[in-house]
Amino acid sequence: MFFGPQGDTRWNQGRLEKTLPRFRHHEADIRDRGGIEALVKEIKPTLIVHTAAQPSHDRAAAIPFDDFDTNAVGTLNLLEAARRHCTESPFVHMSTNKVYGDAPNRIQLKELPKRWDYDDPQYEHGIAETFTIDQSKHSLFGASKLASDILVQEYGRYFNMPTCCLRGGCLTGPHHSGVELHGFLSYLVKCNVEGLEYKVYGYKGKQVRDNIHSEDVAAFMFEFSQNPRCGEVYNLGGGKDNSCSILEAFEMVEACTGRPQKYTYVDQNRIGDHICYYSDLRKMKTHYPKWSITRALPQVVAEIVGSWKQRMAAAVQS
Ligand SMILES: NC(=O)c1ccc[n+]([C@@H]2O[C@H](COP(=O)([O-])OP(=O)(O)OC[C@H]3O[C@@H](n4cnc5c(N)ncnc54)[C@H](O)[C@@H]3O)[C@@H](O)[C@H]2O)c1
Repeated sequence: MFFGPQGDTRWNQGRLEKTLPRFRHHEADIRDRGGIEALVKEIKPTLIVHTAAQPSHDRAAAIPFDDFDTNAVGTLNLLEAARRHCTESPFVHMSTNKVYGDAPNRIQLKELPKRWDYDDPQYEHGIAETFTIDQSKHSLFGASKLASDILVQEYGRYFNMPTCCLRGGCLTGPHHSGVELHGFLSYLVKCNVEGLEYKVYGYKGKQVRDNIHSEDVAAFMFEFSQNPRCGEVYNLGGGKDNSCSILEAFEMVEACTGRPQKYTYVDQNRIGDHICYYSDLRKMKTHYPKWSITRALPQVVAEIVGSWKQRMAAAVQS
């Protein structure tokens, strides 16, 4: 919706309609308060998973009102509709690790040959939910998502609703519509498969992200829905084991496709971009012991490669 045809998610809607007989799509704009309330009143969902968003850090500065209306006000519209019409239904909100702003960049780091890593034993397992959300640079996207994150927590605490915020690292998978501004691993693979140049912005290409397959994301949402808590917050990513730098991602993708990654280096990092971020998954695992990461990073990469190849072949045929 915000990224033109390349970031369009309609193809995925079509895929779901074809493959899941009980899937129903309702065309709705999260900013339409009356429309959202009417829809929730009509359906009374037994579970709400809220993923509608303007999801790009960089894009937000160009469209501040659209960004805030979608991310913050849209979330309030959905929360209030849920409170009025299905207050007992678990409400899972896709938040983001950008709620921590660029504060993770203040952690002592060490430079390794191909990646940055934390050089502070406190962060040996990654960043936990207790990390500060205050007094750092968030980008307007981070600010609008933080507003929605606090609202979701508040509906849990104030109204005792079963809500949670999942502060995502890099969520991806074969059906992701990665574009340059959002969806790094999916976009990086697309560039490799299509022979396009990938632009690396700063930090020597050693910036680290943790990547999680969408099915592991969905599995956690399922566990939460089965045994919900009120106003919870979880850092949901691939964790240390599924983390990689851009340089390491190039190698993994090249190993999978046999094609060298074309790239250029821009000596200026994205504003507020994390140098090294991976999620501490221990709180999730403690609260929901049945949940764990089931897709290791090389497998995630292989699935994304397979999907882009298929999409390319389909585009050639049509
Ligand atoms: N993919 C990631 O790495 C990542 C990381 C952290 C958090 N998240 C969060 O996960 C959620 C989903 O992100 P994604 O990567 O799937 O992005 P995406 O762009 O693929 O999906 C966002 C969806 O929101 C829909 N949308 C946008 N504006 C809308 C509106 N006004 N009304 C209704 N729908 C609207 C879009 O059509 C799109 O289908 C977002 O909340 C994002 O902030 C994603």
